[in-house]
Amino acid sequence: MRSLNRRAVLAAGTLAATFAPRAGAAATAVAPLRDGHASATPFLWGAATAGHQVEGNNVASDIWLLEQIKPTLFSEPSGDACDSFERWREDIEIVQSLNLNTYRFSVEWSRIEPAEGQVSLSALDHYRRMVLACREAGLAPIVTLSHFTSPRWFAAKGGWFHPDAPTVFARHAERVIRHLGESVSHVITFNEPNLQLLGEWGRTPDPAVRQTMTDMLAAAAKASGSDRFSLMNTGDAAAMVAPVLEAHRQARQAIKGVRPDLPVGMTLAIPDDQAVGPDSRIEEKRATVYAPFFVEARQDDFLGVQTYSRSLIGAEGPLPVPEGAERTQMGDEFYPQAIGASIRYAHAQTGRPILVTENGLATQDDTVRARFIPAATAAVLAARDEGVPVIGYLHWSLLDNFEWFSGYGPKFGLVSVDRATFKRTIKPSAQILARIARSDLSR
Ligand code: BGC
Repeated sequence: MRSLNRRAVLAAGTLAATFAPRAGAAATAVAPLRDGHASATPFLWGAATAGHQVEGNNVASDIWLLEQIKPTLFSEPSGDACDSFERWREDIEIVQSLNLNTYRFSVEWSRIEPAEGQVSLSALDHYRRMVLACREAGLAPIVTLSHFTSPRWFAAKGGWFHPDAPTVFARHAERVIRHLGESVSHVITFNEPNLQLLGEWGRTPDPAVRQTMTDMLAAAAKASGSDRFSLMNTGDAAAMVAPVLEAHRQARQAIKGVRPDLPVGMTLAIPDDQAVGPDSRIEEKRATVYAPFFVEARQDDFLGVQTYSRSLIGAEGPLPVPEGAERTQMGDEFYPQAIGASIRYAHAQTGRPILVTENGLATQDDTVRARFIPAATAAVLAARDEGVPVIGYLHWSLLDNFEWFSGYGPKFGLVSVDRATFKRTIKPSAQILARIARSDLSR
């Protein structure tokens, strides 16, 4: 089985030039906003998932089609995933059993609006039940509106490059928040809208991967009766920044119109960038990959930070992982302390409260995760002790799930999932996180 690292694929380059034309006590204790700052008491300790990666059979989404089409960059289809669309109650019970007080999950737009303008009340009810069940379990439900996937019809219309995209997304956001109601704790509009910029920065695209990407999208467009197929983090990354930020702004406004008190933010992929040598291009990277998003995030209630490792930046750009360094299953350097630096940096740039919305690693060996968690959480708590307003730590991921291009190979979960029976088994590393959360929450 081919296993492709998603970041490597993103680094393979943009395709806009070749395709995708532009058409034009726990949870209940979440405190009210103070001075526009989302403040939460107690600290949000949790785990995160994303709909497409765990629900299964998300058949009306753009990525489902790309998994099926030939050629494809996906090493295998998502299929039943973790069957969480059925087993979500069990997932929530597991989060609760781990002394955590927060569950982050995403709502799948393609289930809510499988054809343009046709809204599934049944799907909205499903997510409402999840939100309410979280509250009953003492968990703050953090809801992501866009975790990479969008409906197939949206991609076939040109995705984020369609002139109506921001309005269409804001309408979706308003509908979801209206239906999910008062119990939602925080909303994330977009998950890592800077991921492609990050993957591409300073790297030369692999022409073979780039060609397959172009062919895959062309095949998806054809299968959808369109001349385009465009989705998040796939296309001309620089050109996508403005429409996505406009969609974020309009969605934030729409959400505030329904629930002015609801904290709204986005999440960004931010490794711990470290300058190497006097001529490091680090500032150039920061200006390209984060700065436009930071400007917008200053208007938000919080910023979600997602860090997996560090990145060394020299005079030529990104440097390889140091020789002999311990690596994760994704090829990243094992570097748990990275999260401390990225949250300090993100807060310094935005002045916003920081929520660690993802942090973790892929490993087959749970003892490695058991070493990662204490070091990473200690780095977060040290920043908090210094006065950085960190409001929570959400581990990625609750479950071993569908890791996009890499399929089911990489194991990010606190909990393993039997691929034949969907049986969940809590790993020992999860108990380590549980102990850390309990000790912090009982201080
Ligand atoms: C994404 C997740 C993904 C994780 C590990 C993050 O960039 O938000 O969906 O599974 O990284 O690669």
